[in-house]
Amino acid sequence: MKVPEPHILVIFGASGDLTKRKLVPSLYDLYHQKLLPENFAIVGVGRTPLDNAAFRTKMREGMKEFSNFRDEDSCCADEFLNLLNYIAIDTSNVDDYGQLKEYLTAMDKEKKTNGNIIFYLSTPPQLYGPVSTYLGQHKLHKEKGGYWRRLIIEKPFGTDLKSALALNEEVQSVWKEKQIYRIDHYLGKETVQNLLVTRFANGIFEPLWNNRYIKSVEITSAEKLGIGSRGGYYDHSGALRDMLQNHLLQLVGLTAMEPPARLNSDAIRNETVKVLQSLRPLTQEDLHENVIRGQYTGSMIDGQMVNGYQDEKGVAKGSRTPTYVAMKFYIDNWRWGGVPFYIRTGKRLPTRVSEIVINFKATPHQLFRDLQDEQKHHNQLIIRIQPDEGLLMKFGMKTPGAGFQAQNVNMDFHYSELANTYIPTSYERLLLDCMLGDSTLYARADAVEASWEFVNPVLEAWEKDSNIPLHGYPAGTWGPQVAEDLFDEGHSWRKPCKNLVGDGEYCEL
Ligand code: BG6
Repeated sequence: MKVPEPHILVIFGASGDLTKRKLVPSLYDLYHQKLLPENFAIVGVGRTPLDNAAFRTKMREGMKEFSNFRDEDSCCADEFLNLLNYIAIDTSNVDDYGQLKEYLTAMDKEKKTNGNIIFYLSTPPQLYGPVSTYLGQHKLHKEKGGYWRRLIIEKPFGTDLKSALALNEEVQSVWKEKQIYRIDHYLGKETVQNLLVTRFANGIFEPLWNNRYIKSVEITSAEKLGIGSRGGYYDHSGALRDMLQNHLLQLVGLTAMEPPARLNSDAIRNETVKVLQSLRPLTQEDLHENVIRGQYTGSMIDGQMVNGYQDEKGVAKGSRTPTYVAMKFYIDNWRWGGVPFYIRTGKRLPTRVSEIVINFKATPHQLFRDLQDEQKHHNQLIIRIQPDEGLLMKFGMKTPGAGFQAQNVNMDFHYSELANTYIPTSYERLLLDCMLGDSTLYARADAVEASWEFVNPVLEAWEKDSNIPLHGYPAGTWGPQVAEDLFDEGHSWRKPCKNLVGDGEYCEL
């Protein structure tokens, strides 16, 4: 595997949760696999006054709890921790960036990192614009004399179309698009990337991947947990902004895209953005009929009373923030004309599962009369993103014995069957890609804008139209019952279980 060039990784928001839970543990995992350059340093930047020792102690806790190599020898952890440094500045004060610049210049000299720097913005989102501008005012974005500067921006990228456009404009007024890496951690998932391989490395799927053979596509990203301690953030966000606008629509892009001409960042992202730009705009009728929002209510799960959303910490009393959203929509292009896409996501659903379900059309002529229940016997391809990562094909086979009874059977592949295959976490993969200058798995400005454009009417309608109901659903169930009505008579959402091959309402008991 290629090792990145020498550089410094600067993390803004270093005293925050993401740095401890995801970024530093992933960097440690990369270090373990010898994928970090020899000349390398990490600089944490935050407002909280900390010295290097205190920062390292905090990060050691994160590594112990969240890294893949947490049980390995501690000498390696000590070596890695020596790469970590911390500087406290007021990130909202442009003058403090002079101090940061001096610090980085000295570190670059000491570590021989050739002037290359990645800035990772993991601050509160309202600081993304100012920090990227202040870096520019101190010329920290300038690439000259052969070195490079890159900027990674965490989600959420904007809170609606207007703010996303404004943020793109602000960041792009300083940084070139090729320097900007907008992170969507779903794209870093191994199984999401496998979608490209499944579709474009096999001759058998692609000929069927269109409106002649596909009846509908379902995408689910369900979570068993509630909002935990993130009430303060989540109550201003909700399921549409938190999951659907970014993660789910990126999955739609990869599922529905045309084959790219080449395997590079521009070619792939050119194709996914076309899908997002072809989403049929939602009409007033769609906003009432084809978009469902819900919020979980208190309920008993496994003998324990679980809070309803409104009783969670940090949530405003009477909050109308949706914790569930489901929608049906179309992609207006030649490949997908007439094929409904169903996507849904929610907190406090029965299990944690993300998957893509391709529902194939039934045969044009029903030869076997016993196959009356089309719902039970149509072919499905299930691409499981997590957990029990793998692929499942469902098809009809003859039941042994007299006559021609048919039954549904499964053909399945599980990643866990591959021996000694290490699956990197999303952050590991994405951090390494940015270090190598590969932006394929990062969201481009036009894709972010196209997805906000699609969901913006929903946000506006929910804010202004009190006739659109917010449905309650008991924690631990598959969301509001009305979400079933998005489907035609006789069809419904797959009810996936923790294990790929199972399905059904109550499989987790
Ligand atoms: C994050 C959301 O982007 O994705 C969280 O902010 C959500 O609310 C998380 O829980 C889900 O990610 P994963 O990888 O656990 O499916």
